[in-house]
Amino acid sequence: MTGAIRSPATFDTMPSVYIKTYGCQMNERDSEAVSAQLLARGYSLAASENQADVVLLNTCSVRDMAEQKALSKMQNVIGVDRKRGGRQILGFLGCMAQSRGGELIDQLPDVDLVLGTQKTHRTGEYLDALLSGSRDKVVDTAEETGSESAIREHLGHGIGNDSRPVTAFVSIMQGCNQHCTFCIVPSTRGEERSRPMDDIVAECRELAARGVREITLLGQIVTSYGRRMYPVQDGRSAFVQLIEAVHAIEGIDRIRFTSPHPKGYGDDLVEAYGRLPKLVESAHLPVQSGSNRLLKLMHRGYTRERFLEIIAKLRAVRPDIGLSTDIIVGFPGETEEDFLETLSLCQEIQFDQAFLFKYSRRRDTPAAAMPDQLAEEVIEDRHQRLLAEINRMAMAKFEAHVGGLVEVLVEGPSHRNPARYEGRTRTNKIAVFEGSPRHHGQILNLRIERVGSFTLYGNPAILGLD
Ligand code: SAH
Ligand code: F3S
Repeated sequence: MTGAIRSPATFDTMPSVYIKTYGCQMNERDSEAVSAQLLARGYSLAASENQADVVLLNTCSVRDMAEQKALSKMQNVIGVDRKRGGRQILGFLGCMAQSRGGELIDQLPDVDLVLGTQKTHRTGEYLDALLSGSRDKVVDTAEETGSESAIREHLGHGIGNDSRPVTAFVSIMQGCNQHCTFCIVPSTRGEERSRPMDDIVAECRELAARGVREITLLGQIVTSYGRRMYPVQDGRSAFVQLIEAVHAIEGIDRIRFTSPHPKGYGDDLVEAYGRLPKLVESAHLPVQSGSNRLLKLMHRGYTRERFLEIIAKLRAVRPDIGLSTDIIVGFPGETEEDFLETLSLCQEIQFDQAFLFKYSRRRDTPAAAMPDQLAEEVIEDRHQRLLAEINRMAMAKFEAHVGGLVEVLVEGPSHRNPARYEGRTRTNKIAVFEGSPRHHGQILNLRIERVGSFTLYGNPAILGLD
């Protein structure tokens, strides 16, 4: 570090912070909570990294590309900052901070702060110490009991009617004990730890009181929620009990969750889809592969047949359910036959959406040491072939809505064209229409007229005439 130690006098007003987030919704949620906590301490949020006194990158480690992106972003920020005298405080949060720790400062000595995944709620106190000069560098990647309950604060409520969020993400647990052989998450996020149900329900009630109508329950493996804290009751797992508790909150009209594990779709959860109308007909079931041989090597804990059975049961309860999945191509030892089994599984199920990933070798995971790591060209070729199929499938699902009605929760002005309004259907598709501020936060029916790139376009339906 070549920059001078900063004294509080360096800043006339409270410092401004810019947070850039990589990766999953858990990271988005953590960044939101950190921002809210920093605002509460008097910090302001900067519109860009160039205008900020503090730049934090909340990182992802799931694939190597995500790590490389964050590293090159930080190099970039350092380059610009150095030209201006090296005044910024720079930090890494999230999964790469957890897995690489102090190495990151060895590699990039201008970095001041490296905070692991159980420490994000301590960002404010560490920034105060760095800004006042009482600490020069901070690396903290230790475990912390109770950290799973620290992600509670939300941003943006009560700012004004037009920007008031109507959907919110609520973190219910941290970590994962499944240890899929390709996945780094169990080591970056740690052992499964669940928040108390009362605490989660209280947070959802507060959100409902502020106008939130849709809650997404968040965690790395939400279907394992609370299994060591709350015994099964009348055949209902802790996770289903939690959904029921949130379902009982007045003002909450829609409930989603992510990410579940297919093995968590027991009959109690399937039955909940039939019984609880606020639980929207939308489910994410990460399948990863259609080959039993690979599913076993991946340590997924289900077979192709069991997966198909779960889908059939869900469709029996909610025939119009929207289904999404995650798939990995190029897992070590994947043969053309294995790949074709994944392709045929997709064709058989016809997912509404599939997130397709090229296998990325992650440090200290069992799959990284497996023989037959595939050549990049083979992975690329399979990726292209499956992507074409998935896009066809998804487009067909979108086109099937043309001429029909969909129920939309209006979230606000459209991201692509702020003159229009947008919301999400119960099956999690974006729908855009000519709206006005009075539509904000409403649940309405749209008559779908056309389909754009993974977007539905329509007009509010006048019931009775429609
Ligand atoms: N349940 C978790 C899964 C995290 S990883 C969650 O969503 O929070 C998300 C997806 O990334 C996985 O479902 C898997 O399809 C993909 N993924 C995980 N590790 C990977 C790796 N080493 N290479 C490629 N894709 C991977
Ligand atoms: Fe990763 Fe498997 Fe858990 S994909 S997050 S180890 S369920």
